[in-house]
Amino acid sequence: MPNTKTALIIGASRGLGLGLVHRLSEQGWQVTATVRDLHKAGGPQTIPEVQVEVLDINEPSSLNVFTEKLKGQVFDLMFINAGVSGPKHQSAAQATVDELGQLFMTNAIAPIRLAERMIQQIRPDTGVLAFMSSVLGSVMCPEGNDMALYKASKAALNSMTNSFVTQLADPKPTVLSLHPGWVKTDMGGEGAHIDVETSTRGLVEQIDAYTGKGGHYFINYKGETIPW
Ligand SMILES: NC(=O)c1ccc[n+]([C@@H]2O[C@H](COP(=O)([O-])OP(=O)(O)OC[C@H]3O[C@@H](n4cnc5c(N)ncnc54)[C@H](OP(=O)(O)O)[C@@H]3O)[C@@H](O)[C@H]2O)c1
Repeated sequence: MPNTKTALIIGASRGLGLGLVHRLSEQGWQVTATVRDLHKAGGPQTIPEVQVEVLDINEPSSLNVFTEKLKGQVFDLMFINAGVSGPKHQSAAQATVDELGQLFMTNAIAPIRLAERMIQQIRPDTGVLAFMSSVLGSVMCPEGNDMALYKASKAALNSMTNSFVTQLADPKPTVLSLHPGWVKTDMGGEGAHIDVETSTRGLVEQIDAYTGKGGHYFINYKGETIPW
């Protein structure tokens, strides 16, 4: 299958990551998906043709095994989706070093560390590197102040991504910082605006639309630009 596009989806056990695996597989992409626990039911293991690998993005030993295993594979899309919402209290006053370490490592630092390790494996010129950001990571966003720590972690991801992009050598992939909408998942909750299918369909449309453009963009699943 010489023209089959290849995708690597990080954090695909459930929610939006799993939705992305479904959408891309339906469209004929050859997908590699990562999970933390291969034995957890309902993950991408049930989708035929999907290559499933184990990765905890926070664990250097897990990252070493994973990158060694995928050495030599080239991807048209690498989508770093894994994320956590942080402690329920979302309070600077109450936050512990462990809570903040877990939140900022998962949402802001580990995604960039992984991208640094795998940037050579994104197809030159036409490849897309996507990070799952959030509109809440926009420092101008007046909403979601009950999610203050989470918001700060996504703002930190955007900042880290901006620094990372400026250091990339040519040929650079297109880099997308994406907001999926407010989506009904374990994280988004039942009261969210849209379902996983609507969000991931839109996200894949944006990836197709931005392929080959070059540059770094902060957009939502409908393609609307978000201020940094
Ligand atoms: N839902 C929304 O409304 C919304 C809005 C804006 C942005 N987002 C972002 O979208 C992304 C996905 O969110 P979701 O709503 O689908 O949440 P979710 O259902 O809670 O899924 C989170 C995913 O991240 C994985 N993950 C967490 N920590 C990880 C780690 N250390 N290493 C590898 N994988 C890890 C989880 O794996 P396990 O199953 O092993 O825990 C799971 O697959 C997140 O980055 C989130 O911040 C979501």
